[in-house]
Amino acid sequence: MPVPVDVEFVAKDAKNASNRGDLVIVVDLVRATTCIITALANGAKSIIPVCSLKEAKQQRKMHPDYVLAGERNGVKPAGFDLDNSPLTLTRENVAGKHLIMSTTNGTNALVQSKTAKCVLAGAFVNASAAAKVSLEIACKQKIGISFVLAGQKNRFALEDFICAGGIIKRFPAGTVELSDKALSALLAYEGAKYDLQANILRSTHAQTLIKIGLGRDIEFACQTDLYGIVPFYKNGEIKP
Ligand code: MLT
Repeated sequence: MPVPVDVEFVAKDAKNASNRGDLVIVVDLVRATTCIITALANGAKSIIPVCSLKEAKQQRKMHPDYVLAGERNGVKPAGFDLDNSPLTLTRENVAGKHLIMSTTNGTNALVQSKTAKCVLAGAFVNASAAAKVSLEIACKQKIGISFVLAGQKNRFALEDFICAGGIIKRFPAGTVELSDKALSALLAYEGAKYDLQANILRSTHAQTLIKIGLGRDIEFACQTDLYGIVPFYKNGEIKP
């Protein structure tokens, strides 16, 4: 039986995916899920995603040796150790460490998805691995796969949609049954893939990041299959 694949366009609709009993792949291409995958690939032991800066600071009080990472308006919040850039989450900065992370949309999308049976983080940097692992779990557990797109403050974000399409593209033919939303994401990816970076750069959020000098983060996020790891979010923590 092909696995049903669906897409929720904004984080607040994550509950639809958990109500369907689906495995969830959270996508926040620029930049939260790209950063989470990169940090774990660079040896971070775990990441606690939280929604607010207040919660992040509370968590830090409970775990004084944890690294505080994240952003507001694209930049490192006061009192944080690291920003939300895949170029900052280097082996030198994160290997062997536990992180607490709070970003505007991405960590919120993860927290909103926490009631799903299984929650993974996806981006271009782990597209093939995310497709393979999610399909294996969905087949074994006889459940569907839903993408939860982080979006921008509960508005649709083009870059997350195209990225979901890129992961969908990697499901082998005949293994999945796409909803109209999932098929639209695939078609958007098919249309964008020949100049992926240039097309992602057209999105509103990418333009905002470029204005504050963070264009290199978008170049990084457009690299496909840089890593073979798939982060799992379970019991409040994200681990590879
Ligand atoms: C978010 O969670 O909204 C993003 O990761 C923001 C960003 O750092 O570009």
